[in-house]
Amino acid sequence: MSQYQAVKGTRDIFPEEAARWKYVEGVVHSLASIYGFNEIRTPVFEYTELFQRGIGSTTDIVGKEMFTFQPDPKGRSLTLRPEMTAGVMRAVLQNNLLSSAPVHKLYYISELFRKERPQAGRQRQFSQFGAELIGVSSPAAVAEVMTLMMQVFESLGLHGLKLRVNTLGDSEDRLRYREALQGYFAPFHHLLDESSKERLEKNPLRILDSKNPAVQDIVAGAPRLYDYLNDAAVQDFEKVLFYLGERGIAYTIDHRLVRGLDYYCHTAFEVTSSELGAQDAIGGGGRYDGLARELGGSSDVPASGFAVGMERLLMTMEKQGLFAALTPRAPLVYVVVQSQELGDYGLQIAYQLRKAGIMTEIDLAARSMKAQMREANRIRVSYALFVGATEVETGLYALKNLVTSEQTTLSLEAVLEILREPAAKELLDL
Ligand code: HAM
Repeated sequence: MSQYQAVKGTRDIFPEEAARWKYVEGVVHSLASIYGFNEIRTPVFEYTELFQRGIGSTTDIVGKEMFTFQPDPKGRSLTLRPEMTAGVMRAVLQNNLLSSAPVHKLYYISELFRKERPQAGRQRQFSQFGAELIGVSSPAAVAEVMTLMMQVFESLGLHGLKLRVNTLGDSEDRLRYREALQGYFAPFHHLLDESSKERLEKNPLRILDSKNPAVQDIVAGAPRLYDYLNDAAVQDFEKVLFYLGERGIAYTIDHRLVRGLDYYCHTAFEVTSSELGAQDAIGGGGRYDGLARELGGSSDVPASGFAVGMERLLMTMEKQGLFAALTPRAPLVYVVVQSQELGDYGLQIAYQLRKAGIMTEIDLAARSMKAQMREANRIRVSYALFVGATEVETGLYALKNLVTSEQTTLSLEAVLEILREPAAKELLDL
């Protein structure tokens, strides 16, 4: 046993589980392209200010969850990315992408880092897939990212997920609401916990997100942001709901939904899974027109997007039994060598099979023929190809179908011919 352990809040993914990831990633890649999104990859670390400005300095993420480091005493502070949206917007602005095309539809499957207390479904290194639609923020655009997210869930066979939606209005609506909230909470000031008191001053909307039951009781009677919205904001929201309805996407309106990041305006949404326990949010997102300006852009850039936690998605799928049929792919053929002297000959045959695109396995430890057959059965290959003295002499090989036990003697050319067909079919299944 190694004296080292994986760092708390991180984990290893072994082949059987990796097969599940690959399957989910495949569905994400193909649906993203069906919806016209292209993949973006951004650096794992960024300047700390990007997240402070982008996500908001009063949020939990920026306040206590960032892995921040200083590369050298004079260097600027850096942070491992805790989410993707700020980095994606930075990349779009920095490279002036909006001047070449007015709309950019980008998606990602990426590793993220948050210094949270690890528990089931909450890690310090985790993964998200998400999409960002930048350059237009019509209700149709928000509905498009929501539809993509919901279609990924549906294609994976998930059921029982709950989509909650809310609208946060525009910045003026929120300013008026902020004052209303401060007025409402003022008489309860002595009953609030320390972090809520701080939030009340700096960002009262965040109090609605408090997990403290005593604070939640007070929140229950708080005014609703919805009652402070201007008419256009209400109409915008209703149009988003209209599109969801048209597409048969079930939702509930939750007027208390505020997300854990400050960049949202108008529509915000979250999806929860009852299968997940305390950390039940599987994904969320919304519109974030003001982020670009926060990052130093000269004006707002309309945008919306979402992200889904891959680990929580996989946990839910596992609980719903959606992986039953998935196992890592077995090699198609095992090259069985009769004696050690023929080992190098066998290796060359295996090389030729692999060059022809056929998934091939061969023993590398000079084990007995019996041990090789045992291994071939254990890893469930479909064929065994025997290499013995006669085979080498005649150039004709015994190929055994391990499923039907049928055996034929063939030239290597003919073997390749037979094995190529299932190999091509398997590749298509990838
Ligand atoms: P978020 O709600 O912070 O949003 O994260 C999205 C999802 O990531 C969560 O619903 C959850 O499934 C997963 N997640 C978050 N933290 C952890 C963790 N510590 N361990 C495991 N999974 C976690 C965002 O990140 C926004 N950038 C979403 C977005 C994109 N908004 C607009 N565009």
